[in-house]
Amino acid sequence: MRHAVLAGSRHLTYLEAGEPDGRALVLLHGFPLTADMWREQLAAPPHGWRVLAPDFAGFGGCDDHGGESVSLDDYAGDVLTWLGRLGVQQIVLAGLSMGGYVALALARLAPERLDALVLADTKAPADSDEARAGRDRMLDTLGEHGTDGVAAEMLPKLLGATTRSNRPQLVAEVRSLILPNPPDGVRRGILRLRGRPDATAVLPRIGVPTLVLVGEEDEVTPPKDARALATAIPQATLETLPGAGHLSNLEAPSRFNAALHRFLATV
Ligand code: MLT
Repeated sequence: MRHAVLAGSRHLTYLEAGEPDGRALVLLHGFPLTADMWREQLAAPPHGWRVLAPDFAGFGGCDDHGGESVSLDDYAGDVLTWLGRLGVQQIVLAGLSMGGYVALALARLAPERLDALVLADTKAPADSDEARAGRDRMLDTLGEHGTDGVAAEMLPKLLGATTRSNRPQLVAEVRSLILPNPPDGVRRGILRLRGRPDATAVLPRIGVPTLVLVGEEDEVTPPKDARALATAIPQATLETLPGAGHLSNLEAPSRFNAALHRFLATV
């Protein structure tokens, strides 16, 4: 069931599992998905933990900001507002891809709130000129074909070659997670990704244990990006998940959960 808190007139929506009095593990989703992409993690909450997965503004039922603010920090600010409404102070923060970009924004904006960090299939640098040109093309696709067009463009990149050839059902399921997102939320998401700042300077200042996870077949943020994160963050360990692409938490859920739970037991 989706829960919601109010921030002014906006509904901030989220999914929750595990123990209400447990330590908080917050899971931040990738683009153009919703908190539902964490279903395999929400279905197996680690003992002693409260697992919370918010939707970002414009995705999964979460109202977007009014006006034309399209900063990635809008998402980070919403996470802090939402945690405030829930009365949660300290968290272990995990983000996949765009969720990882937001996790790095939170490591810059509110480092005192983080007990530990999990960065999955993500990277620190801003978009290159080439990547920005790709975002512009995606905005055209969105204008012409709506969220469906973006799903068609993204799916081959989101899922690894092994999943695409062996698990057509998962490909269809990921598509069904993308399609309900309204085009305007997706549009603003693209603009936020396109304009996000370089987070490289944040990495050496991260003072908490950090687990870096990556699917071996990730083509969006390949293992070399994960190695760069793990090298620059002082207390980082790196785990590579075989047979998984960019959505490693959905493609290799058992291995992903095992790595996550092992890490949580140490922090
Ligand atoms: C994501 O999975 O969140 C996106 O692929 C990230 C990106 O496009 O930079």
